Amino acid sequence: MRIAMIGTGYVGLVSGACLADFGHHVICVDKDASKIEALRRGEIPIFEPGLDALVASNVKAKRLDFTTELAAPVAEADAVFIAVGTPSRRGDGHADLTYVYSAAREIAAALSGFTVVVTKSTVPVGTGDEVERLIREANPSADVVVASNPEFLREGAAIRDFKFPDRIVVGTSDERGRKVLGDVYRPLSLNQAPMMYTARRTAELIKYAANAFLATKITFINEIADLSEKVGADVQEVARGIGLDNRIGTKFLHAGPGFGGSCFPKDTR
Ligand SMILES: NC(=O)c1ccc[n+]([C@@H]2O[C@H](COP(=O)([O-])OP(=O)(O)OC[C@H]3O[C@@H](n4cnc5c(N)ncnc54)[C@H](O)[C@@H]3O)[C@@H](O)[C@H]2O)c1
Repeated sequence: MRIAMIGTGYVGLVSGACLADFGHHVICVDKDASKIEALRRGEIPIFEPGLDALVASNVKAKRLDFTTELAAPVAEADAVFIAVGTPSRRGDGHADLTYVYSAAREIAAALSGFTVVVTKSTVPVGTGDEVERLIREANPSADVVVASNPEFLREGAAIRDFKFPDRIVVGTSDERGRKVLGDVYRPLSLNQAPMMYTARRTAELIKYAANAFLATKITFINEIADLSEKVGADVQEVARGIGLDNRIGTKFLHAGPGFGGSCFPKDTR
């Protein structure tokens, strides 16, 4: 399949390289010309174990390329992924959707033939509706399905997370959209990764609900750590004692400084 990845940051670059490694033809697009020039020279702008070799082998096999020009890759693509940033908006903390919407307008102008436009960026419920509205407004004759496919990879374990995911969430009720995304992820479903097909709004909420739940686990065990100190208990043993209950699980129950990183703080806000 032909894939255009709009936004070649952490998620776009890792996803693009992994999808190329599945055998698809992927072109990663970014507005940042210095980033694209560096990638074309074989320099990887982020540190992610194994990513340099993965990019190099797929560039060599001519399945992965980088460009600043969005139009040609979008016109040729079966699936166009939007993987641009959605940082917290100054003031109210809402996800800043400026980059997503401007990418959607640019994509709309370049669409040709049946295309599935897939939002991979973490976006509030209803963003897919607005992306679809913008595309149809800018290009009323476009044969397009807008789907949601949130990403759950973790920085530092990103390639493993992408290639061996706990699940893949595909949010669209359109059969043609489901078929294209089923084909995109075929190597993973053949490998027994659970594919979950759902409605677009449900997929959008799954991403925030997952991050909110994980952040809650960290916050919860930190509260229990404070309580443990007060009552003379050992929080690590409390965590093990509750985590061995399968309904709770042992992961994300390590007391520490609280949650951080590039996603939990902004997504919980
Ligand atoms: N980083 C993570 O661990 C992670 C995990 C899961 C989901 N996400 C979500 O994925 C999305 C992307 O995150 P990221 O960490 O990869 O961001 P990032 O800031 O590393 O990359 C975003 C890239 O998009 C580019 N861009 C912006 N507008 C563009 C446009 N119109 N055309 C082409 N390129 C454009 C920017 O130049 C930048 O290189 C966010 O919504 C984030 O919440 C991130």
